[in-house]
Amino acid sequence: MAEMTTAATVERVTKFRSADLNDLCEAADLAIRDGGGFGWVDPPTRDVMERYWKGVLIVPERHLFIARLDGVVAGSAQLVAPPRNNEAQAHSAQLTTSFVAPWARGHGLARMLIRAVEAAAREAGYRVLNLDVRETQRAAIALYETLGFQRWGTHPLYANVRGQNLAGHFFTKDLTTTDLPSVQPLTEAPP
Ligand SMILES: CC(C)(COP(=O)(O)OP(=O)(O)OC[C@H]1O[C@@H](n2cnc3c(N)ncnc32)[C@H](O)[C@@H]1OP(=O)(O)O)[C@@H](O)C(=O)NCCC(=O)NCCS
Repeated sequence: MAEMTTAATVERVTKFRSADLNDLCEAADLAIRDGGGFGWVDPPTRDVMERYWKGVLIVPERHLFIARLDGVVAGSAQLVAPPRNNEAQAHSAQLTTSFVAPWARGHGLARMLIRAVEAAAREAGYRVLNLDVRETQRAAIALYETLGFQRWGTHPLYANVRGQNLAGHFFTKDLTTTDLPSVQPLTEAPP
């Protein structure tokens, strides 16, 4: 019998194809129910979630990356450019909203997403990549540390989840180093 293999891919998207928006909403919904980590505590209604993702694609400062397992959208991450008026921080970008649906974890998708965002930030000329994460997101923290992000601070009142204050850690990576991770080529979704 032929051996089954799992195809893990990451791409930058500027337009949603066929079932992708629905699958992205579904993946986000499942990740939020599992403990979230990217803002929502409870999943919003589907129409709100759809409007959110459609909005991401039209905000010029936001660049959306999606991860697929066997072709199905299973997670995402965003590269966010600094506001245009912020000349003093024009060198630094933000990595946000990274998650992988519980059913797709452990296949290296998150690592691929972060590497793709980092590669895009380098290509765009950013010299610093910042991110922040709740202290409870242990898997994400381990991932960022293995990818060379430095923790530089902790905010004790970073988040409030169901009435409980949670600290959050702030990480940064100096992109001027030669530590360029190997990434698979980014492919734009065809129009
Ligand atoms: C964090 C998250 C994105 C990891 O997704 P994933 O696709 O399973 O991660 P990967 O398979 O790419 O794993 C990469 C590395 O992450 C770390 N990691 C992943 N899962 C882990 C776990 N359960 N415990 C500890 N470390 C873990 C490991 O360092 C792992 O490397 P290894 O496989 O060589 O040990 C996923 O668990 C998730 O969506 N969590 C909730 C949302 C979240 O925390 N987002 C980040 C907010 S900023």
